[in-house]
Amino acid sequence: MIEVKDLHKSFGEAHILKGITTSFEKGKTNLIIGQSGSGKTVFLKCLLGLFEYEEGSISYDGKIFSALSADEKRELRAEIGMVFQGSALFDSMTIAENVMFPLRMFTKQSKSEMEDRVNVVLNRVNLENAHKKMPSEASGGMQKRVAIARAIVNNPKYLFCDEPNSGLDPKTAIVIDNLIQEITDEFNITTVINSHDMNSVMEIGEKIVFLKDGLKAWEGSKETIFRTDNEAVTNFVYSSELFKKVRKMYLEENQ
Ligand SMILES: Nc1ncnc2c1ncn2[C@@H]1O[C@H](COP(=O)(O)OP(=O)(O)OP(=O)(O)O)[C@@H](O)[C@H]1O
Ligand SMILES: [Mg+2]
Repeated sequence: MIEVKDLHKSFGEAHILKGITTSFEKGKTNLIIGQSGSGKTVFLKCLLGLFEYEEGSISYDGKIFSALSADEKRELRAEIGMVFQGSALFDSMTIAENVMFPLRMFTKQSKSEMEDRVNVVLNRVNLENAHKKMPSEASGGMQKRVAIARAIVNNPKYLFCDEPNSGLDPKTAIVIDNLIQEITDEFNITTVINSHDMNSVMEIGEKIVFLKDGLKAWEGSKETIFRTDNEAVTNFVYSSELFKKVRKMYLEENQ
């Protein structure tokens, strides 16, 4: 469980996160949604420990990050997996080398132990024959799966994904969403995903935190998002005619 209390983050004069309090449970896919510029990536980078913040606290299973020693912070970082916006693979490394990278960084495993683990995770994301390919030879969907394999190779307790299905066709996007949800469930990971994709919300939104202008404007689940009359949420979620219809049908069916 990750608990965030009254988080404030500014860049110079610009106050971006204005006091966010929420929590993310273990074994659940937690979604952060909100318009472009609402602060999702900044928030995720605070969770990752990549950004310092002026006020507030973040605790990981009871450990408050800012109170940890440098060694303890390093240990915690080794328990975090990350899928960056746009995959961020190393272009000059093969797919297998990309996936092995965190093991080289954070563990003292032998080469054959690392190779075994790389095989396991590449199989898990259905890329058993892609070891020797370069990222440039892989499709966008394959690159996302490599990024997921790399993020989970070190058995993370926490998994953060920034727009994991951006740039993918709707079918591949759902495959990636479902893969993340299955892995979250299978390995009991605390997963936090940034998204502005309504399909993701409806498919895998076990907990949804809606950010607006650096504040949490609403939180709930894919079931309660249909029933809320919070105007900020409904303006965002039901800006398309399709989702207005989906909501109407859902409410008619579940009266
Ligand atoms: N390193 C930075 N320095 C200064 N301002 C920044 C920095 N990173 C982000 N910002 C500002 O913080 C605000 C929130 O940006 P953020 O990237 O978190 O939005 P987002 O919700 O992730 O948007 P998107 O959906 O487009 O990815 C924006 O106004 C942005 O300009
Ligand atoms: Mg972003």
